Amino acid sequence: MTGDTPVEATTAQDAGLAARERLREMMNASPLDPGELMFNLGLYTRSSLLVKFLVLSEVYKRIQSLPGALIEFGTWRGQNLVLMENLRAIYEPFNKQRTIIGFDTFSGYPEDAGMAAKSTETHGGYNTGSAYPDYLAELLRVHEAMNAFGHIPGGHQLIAGDVAQTAPKYFADHPETLVAFAFFDMGPYEPTVAALKAIRPHLMPGSVLLFDELTWTGAPGEAIAFKEVFRDARYTIEKVTLYPSKTLVTLL
Ligand SMILES: C[S@@+](CC[C@H](N)C(=O)[O-])C[C@H]1O[C@@H](n2cnc3c(N)ncnc32)[C@H](O)[C@@H]1O
Repeated sequence: MTGDTPVEATTAQDAGLAARERLREMMNASPLDPGELMFNLGLYTRSSLLVKFLVLSEVYKRIQSLPGALIEFGTWRGQNLVLMENLRAIYEPFNKQRTIIGFDTFSGYPEDAGMAAKSTETHGGYNTGSAYPDYLAELLRVHEAMNAFGHIPGGHQLIAGDVAQTAPKYFADHPETLVAFAFFDMGPYEPTVAALKAIRPHLMPGSVLLFDELTWTGAPGEAIAFKEVFRDARYTIEKVTLYPSKTLVTLL
């Protein structure tokens, strides 16, 4: 027992961690060969991951009738980008104009993660290694190739670098961009405010923004950035039903 944490809560937490470790071991020693594993990944998919798939699927349905790009600020390994490509294939297989764009340093949090960063946002945290953007780009092409009209590639872009610089530059270079959906998953104020300012002129009624930690007082940077940039905007705001710590904003 630590501090005021009840014994039962600690025990439950320990049991959960032990089960997660056992799942990792079981996946590592899986009796399935790689081909079988690809078709049976649900065997090892925890509810905490599955819920993210379900949430993105719900968001996709909301923006399906809008034109414009799907963007993730803070892509890390790019799982959400792959998921968006596959949701695109399911919900609008013939829409080859749906660009999917991922922004990340790919070297983790920059030296000074900035105002209101939380402890996991330390310098270099989430470093994917320098070869990873090429690996992810190929992974996205491979998924695209398996989907309808896969012979027409090019629906994805990975923008490497600090978003405080890359987001303003990207939208200055691509003033025609419309943004249907953007997911903010970096955390600190500086890159978030830069990304919000950069995309705001490219949003339209119905555009959806998903925030990872808008309501988390432990790291207020995201909320401060949002309130600053959208002070005079008209929008609806709601918590994500299946994932209450996440927040959805829909432009009016
Ligand atoms: C929590 S992780 C993102 C996880 C990912 N969205 C997912 O769901 O798997 C945060 C990411 O933001 C990136 N990041 C943080 N600050 C950044 C900045 N200033 N510019 C670009 N990327 C940044 C980190 O490199 C890291 O990959």
